[in-house]
Amino acid sequence: MCGIVGVVDRNNLASPIIHEALKRLEYRGYDSAGIATIYQNKICLKKEKGKISEIHEKLDFNKLLGTIGIGHTRWATHGLPSKTNAHPQVDCTNKIAVVHNGIIENFLELREDLAKRHNFVSETDTEVIPHLIEEIMAKTKCDLHTATRRALQKVKGTYALVIICTKESDTLVCARNESPLVIGVGKNANYCASDIPALLPMTRKIILLSDGEMATIHHDKIRIETINGEVEVQPKIVNVSWTPEMAQKGGYPHFMLKEIHEQPHALNGTLMIRPEVINKTANVLNDSEKLYITAAGTSHHAGLAGRYMLSKLSAMQSQAIISSEFSESTANLIDEDTTILAISQSGETADTLNAIKFAKDNGAKIVSITNVMGSTISRLSDLTLYTQAGPEIGVAATKTFIVQLASLALISLQLAEIRGMTDNSEIEQIREELFQTPRIVENTIKKHESLIRDIAYEYAYKPNFLYLGRGISTTTAMEGSLKLKEIAYIHSEAYPAGESKHGAIALIEPGFPVVFIAPHDDTRERIIGNIMEMKAREATIISVADENDYEIKKLSHKMIGIPSTMGILSPITCVTPLQLFAYYAATKRGYDPDKPRNLAKSVTVL
Ligand code: AGP
Repeated sequence: MCGIVGVVDRNNLASPIIHEALKRLEYRGYDSAGIATIYQNKICLKKEKGKISEIHEKLDFNKLLGTIGIGHTRWATHGLPSKTNAHPQVDCTNKIAVVHNGIIENFLELREDLAKRHNFVSETDTEVIPHLIEEIMAKTKCDLHTATRRALQKVKGTYALVIICTKESDTLVCARNESPLVIGVGKNANYCASDIPALLPMTRKIILLSDGEMATIHHDKIRIETINGEVEVQPKIVNVSWTPEMAQKGGYPHFMLKEIHEQPHALNGTLMIRPEVINKTANVLNDSEKLYITAAGTSHHAGLAGRYMLSKLSAMQSQAIISSEFSESTANLIDEDTTILAISQSGETADTLNAIKFAKDNGAKIVSITNVMGSTISRLSDLTLYTQAGPEIGVAATKTFIVQLASLALISLQLAEIRGMTDNSEIEQIREELFQTPRIVENTIKKHESLIRDIAYEYAYKPNFLYLGRGISTTTAMEGSLKLKEIAYIHSEAYPAGESKHGAIALIEPGFPVVFIAPHDDTRERIIGNIMEMKAREATIISVADENDYEIKKLSHKMIGIPSTMGILSPITCVTPLQLFAYYAATKRGYDPDKPRNLAKSVTVL
């Protein structure tokens, strides 16, 4: 959560560059924002509560002068969203400015001591940092990077930090511990930011800072060292293949809609993952005695679908556990014979990283699926499989979900082959159909987007929804329901359709919308029974079903037809209508689907 950026440029004003980069980072938090530059030996600061565009309209960030600066877009943890709590935070002398993503755990203790000599103005944990640096610099007359290092030795917690100081008006100092931070190498300019897309218009040459490292950045040189050992680290520059256009809306009103439309392309890219990588991953899973899949939110739904795929295709036993519950629910179960399959599009979700660390400490092997090269999850893993969705900016995960499903299908098919559990001709048939899914998703969007929009507009003001599916479609229902909740703010619940009669059916009254995910698989007859039960109570039935399923069509008030595929692949083909439904329900209700309230794309707190 929170996006941070730093710019030191020899020839250009820093603030407009920071402002644009912050807009690309806004998915990480958007309750307040600010920029500080150094100009004529002074810190020039503009910050306010609200979204970046609202603040810019009021304050005009681009009028800040100076070729060095830092910026922040906030997701509040300590202190309400307000101008005072917005970053950058400064010291008493207004010479040091700091932006921070993470949580300083011992801030109360540090603050209590510092407050005897320093004037604190905010409720943030971050404010201890500029005061600590101020005190160290005043006492020891050391430079900014030494003072920062010494300050960080007193700090416990997680951080990505960027600091500027008027005494060194050509230097950015940044540091990382468990919150993401990358450095961009430019021409006569260098940068740092919370993620790669923020830097893409300026550079594609990236240095991935590791935990426990700090950097001193000038426009023409970068020095990296460890925070504790003061050991110099040779920077490794990676040339990233993502393009600046990938991080722009490209004519779509929202990133979310663009990213839904990019799904066929994302699937194609992911289905091209080298067979050796899939084979290696499948073999590691096959060698494990116990397999746990762990993830949060949408990635957890992919994990649940993965569990069905693994069991149905390759008779591989696994459990999918929400990462924030992982250590509690697997206490005493993890050992050297265990493999963890961790899924995270960002690779930075604190809950998932925590689950991995717990499993690693107990001797487990870690395999991960992520969309972000060099993300923390990949560094903690023995083996990483990278999905190829390109950068996902919309807070609601869409294209990264579909590619997680595709990669899990690839792994499951490979495992089926290794374990000889499924007939070879069936494996081939499913594989062929998997390679058809980009085309199916593309056609579904082309053919049905306007119908889905009309349905969404019609039902956008219903206060409650129920999403039901059976078998693997239960996971599709869960994902559809989550999308509706998170961007349209409509209460919805997802259930296995068979379970609904044990409780949720009590909610049904005439006109209650129930969304059925009912592809033509071996659960079809039973789900028709569940549709009948809901109809008997005068629910409104909206279904996503096989386009040739006239029986379900007759039973539904509205139906979105999709081509039939092998059941195990149905989450890939059925989820797009649900994503579009949530998108249009949100926009009809006047909400910005790219920036849902209270959420951030990358949840880096536990
Ligand atoms: C998805 O729409 C949500 N924004 C959220 O549930 C997300 O999937 C979750 O926070 C996990 O993120 P990750 O995949 O980056 O780990």
